[in-house]
Amino acid sequence: MRVASGRTARLIYTWEARLRAGLPFAFIALAAVSASTLPLAGAEAAPAKPESKAAAKAEYVGSETCQTCHEDIFKAFQKNPHAVVDAGKRKKQWEGKACESCHGPGSKHAESTEKADIIQPAKIRPAEADRNCLGCHLNQVTQVGRVQSGHAHNQVACVSCHSIHAQKENPAAGRSRAAELNSQCASCHPSVWAQFQRPYKHKLPEGMMSCVDCHNPHGSFLPKSVAMSTGNEPGCLKCHGNKRGPFTFDHVPVQMEGCGACHLPHGSANPKMLTRHEVRNLCLECHSNVARPAAPVSNGLGGIPPAIHDLRSPRYQNCTTCHQKIHGSYVSRGLLR
Ligand code: HEC
Ligand code: HEC
Ligand code: HEC
Ligand code: HEC
Ligand code: HEC
Ligand code: HEC
Ligand code: HEC
Ligand code: HEC
Ligand code: HEC
Ligand code: HEC
Repeated sequence: MRVASGRTARLIYTWEARLRAGLPFAFIALAAVSASTLPLAGAEAAPAKPESKAAAKAEYVGSETCQTCHEDIFKAFQKNPHAVVDAGKRKKQWEGKACESCHGPGSKHAESTEKADIIQPAKIRPAEADRNCLGCHLNQVTQVGRVQSGHAHNQVACVSCHSIHAQKENPAAGRSRAAELNSQCASCHPSVWAQFQRPYKHKLPEGMMSCVDCHNPHGSFLPKSVAMSTGNEPGCLKCHGNKRGPFTFDHVPVQMEGCGACHLPHGSANPKMLTRHEVRNLCLECHSNVARPAAPVSNGLGGIPPAIHDLRSPRYQNCTTCHQKIHGSYVSRGLLR
């Protein structure tokens, strides 16, 4: 692990940490999920049938039958991304039956017009509703971390966020609609939204960025559903690429603990969004004057500043005036330049 390059080291570290944290269980779950849905997730396979006692005995009648009574929905649906299902361009076995791919077979309902005879995905159990959606969407890259996501664990269903019929063009909340998306996330995460009201934060309240610039709402292999960029790097590097390295002289916590060791990306009282108001308090949390453990363990956490550092003198209080390359340096072991 020590000889691995920065990126590989991070990768190994992440996986090692997760294995220790019990990932095998998640893995088994993942394997189980994919095993049970694999035949369904293939290009030509059917998604899991939405299940309900009511619809169980019904037959498929086709979307045009639904049109006769649900004209408005049917018309609007022609601009929905799922219209390609009706057209047979994707998921061929559902050609002409797109409505029923989510609502289940509709012959009984078409006769009775009773609500009880048709499935409404937003009204059934989240696990059941999700199984149906995942019948077609499981094999997509965005969903791979789902088994670990806080949303999957807490019954936040696909349809809690995706409103299939309400949006005409695209039911996915895209980047162009950052403000709308933020308010949706904020509706369930008010305390996180409050953090964005601090003086120094990313420009979410201004609608310039959104939660999904940093999080994958479907889950991720990084903790807290933090989005990944190029492989398993933290999503921060998508925009702050100059912090990526690999550097000749790494500042260890940047590589090993990640950006969150020093920054509060949701907002902070420090202009550089640090976890502490003053820079030195942050540094001294790790570089404090703690007793050195005996060899062969080196000098503990981050080592202590050498004696030339008179911490009472204002000159030494803003550590980053000298240690400028705090994220890693190409030339200075002491991160000075
Ligand atoms: C003969 C007319 C008719 C046809 C055909 C029809 N529906 Fe309906 N549907 C209705 C009516 C009326 C309601 C409202 C029932 C109520 O409010 O009690 C309804 C309600 C619904 C609901 C809401 C259920 C709920 O729990 O809120 C869904 C979903 C639905 N229909 C889907 C479909 C689909 C899919 C098809 C095609 C397979 C279809 N309908 C065909 C008349 C029809
Ligand atoms: C991708 C899955 C999906 C497809 C395809 C789909 N629906 Fe829906 N439908 C939903 C969901 C989810 C809801 C719950 C409300 C929402 O999220 O918009 C819903 C709600 C409804 C309702 C109830 C609306 C209400 O106001 O209560 C009707 C009626 C309906 N759909 C008819 C249709 C018809 C007709 C088609 C085909 C033209 C269709 N649906 C295709 C997922 C789907
Ligand atoms: C019959 C298969 C099928 C089912 C079931 C299905 N989808 Fe889809 N979905 C598709 C296809 C095909 C597209 C078109 C996307 C594309 O072009 O790749 C799509 C598109 C989408 C998009 C927009 C993607 C984009 O790139 O803009 C969202 C969001 C979505 N589906 C969510 C859902 C949800 C939520 C459910 C469950 C209520 C669901 N889907 C059920 C096949 C399905
Ligand atoms: C319907 C309510 C709801 C909505 C909408 C919602 N969340 Fe969540 N979210 C939850 C719940 C419940 C949890 C699990 C409890 C917790 O960790 O607070 C959670 C957890 C999380 C976590 C912790 C992740 C983890 O895997 O442990 C993140 C990050 C998150 N949500 C981001 C988002 C983002 C981004 C959006 C908007 C796209 C969003 N949430 C929308 C309810 C919601
Ligand atoms: C917490 C809210 C939330 C939940 C729960 C959620 N999604 Fe999404 N989904 C989003 C957002 C936000 C986007 C837009 C992401 C972006 O623009 O980067 C999205 C995008 C998508 C897309 C578009 C293509 C892609 O992969 O980015 C599909 C397909 C999709 N979701 C399907 C699903 C399915 C299926 C489920 C349930 C298993 C689900 N989503 C659950 C919020 C959610
Ligand atoms: C600039 C990147 C960034 C943005 C934008 C962002 N987050 Fe986060 N968020 C993070 C990081 C990094 C963590 C993980 C911190 C850690 O490791 O403890 C996190 C943690 C979380 C958590 C779990 C920890 C907690 O505080 O409960 C939730 C929930 C969450 N974010 C929700 C959101 C929501 C909702 C939004 C949009 C309003 C959002 N985030 C926007 C980077 C971001
Ligand atoms: C979508 C792009 C994007 C992502 C992803 C992103 N940032 Fe930023 N970040 C920005 C922009 C743009 C600014 C400048 C904001 C401003 O001027 O108000 C910024 C500013 C900052 C600053 C303050 C810089 C300064 O000079 O004021 C820090 C610290 C920071 N980001 C850390 C992070 C961390 C940590 C993450 C990951 C959790 C992250 N960012 C993810 C775009 C991003
Ligand atoms: C060991 C603590 C630490 C870690 C870990 C860390 N940073 Fe920083 N970061 C700082 C300090 C301290 C500053 C302020 C430097 C100054 O005072 O000029 C800073 C400043 C920044 C800035 C704004 C100034 C600049 O250099 O552009 C950005 C952007 C930033 N960090 C992003 C990140 C990202 C992305 C990560 C994760 C890859 C990260 N940081 C990890 C301590 C850290
Ligand atoms: C999360 C803990 C942590 C924080 C916070 C932290 N460091 Fe470090 N730092 C370390 C570790 C661990 C090392 C590696 C020590 C080693 O290799 O023995 C290190 C190494 C260094 C080195 C290089 C020492 C050498 O000879 O290799 C300097 C200089 C340094 N840190 C300065 C700072 C400054 C200035 C800050 C505040 C902006 C800071 N650190 C914040 C943990 C931290
Ligand atoms: C006036 C400039 C200056 C300031 C301010 C400063 N340092 Fe240093 N620091 C140095 C120099 C010079 C070295 C020696 C670098 C070398 O050996 O390459 C050093 C070395 C270090 C080392 C490495 C010790 C080792 O074992 O090699 C650490 C850790 C460190 N400083 C932490 C801090 C912390 C924490 C602060 C803020 C409280 C701070 N420094 C403020 C100039 C400064």
